[in-house]
Amino acid sequence: MSDDWNDYADGWDGNSDVRHYATRAFAALDALAGITGGGWQDKRVLDFGCGTGLLSGKLAPHVQEVVATDTSERMIAVLEEKALPNVRALHTDILDGSAAADGVTGFDLICASSVCSFLPDYAGAVAALAGLLNRGGMFVQWDWLAPEAGSSGLTVQQVREALRDAGLGAIRVEQAFEMESGGQAMPVLMGSGVRQNG
Ligand SMILES: C[S@@+](CC[C@H](N)C(=O)[O-])C[C@H]1O[C@@H](n2cnc3c(N)ncnc32)[C@H](O)[C@@H]1O
Repeated sequence: MSDDWNDYADGWDGNSDVRHYATRAFAALDALAGITGGGWQDKRVLDFGCGTGLLSGKLAPHVQEVVATDTSERMIAVLEEKALPNVRALHTDILDGSAAADGVTGFDLICASSVCSFLPDYAGAVAALAGLLNRGGMFVQWDWLAPEAGSSGLTVQQVREALRDAGLGAIRVEQAFEMESGGQAMPVLMGSGVRQNG
């Protein structure tokens, strides 16, 4: 298995598991935040680690703008080819400290779907992303639910601590859905928190 996300970009949308994951994540987000209810039309969303934009495409019709960022040039190229209305695709590393200076800030919602467990400094990333939220803005992540630290994915405790240490409130961490892999059920957690201060 390659550790270069560029190698997966061309076949990403052809993988039914990947599409199913995005569908289930969006459904869980909608149940949490009421995205499809009409109240998000003036809201700005960041899809962090957007890949080919499977989640961005579901969010875009319901919000003002989706800024979709990824460090994989090829993932972003596939997303750009889709020319999705309302979606601004950026090949950039917004964790390098340049996000606010580049205007990549002021979000009402930040989503990270199947990204956080791959980051070398997960807790640091959540803290940086929380700083890009408007007051009252929400951070939401989905990752494989690990039974214990050191297993692949993230534990409920790891997520709860990272969200708390990032200064987020109204924290919720729970199993959102399951995926099937080789006859085995793989639980996916959803963690969310809200920026309390200005
Ligand atoms: C499992 S894929 C998920 C893609 C997409 N969110 C989805 O659900 O289809 C992980 C993505 O995270 C991206 N990624 C990894 N590290 C990143 C970072 N530091 N900043 C932004 N994106 C990152 C990868 O390039 C890859 O596209």
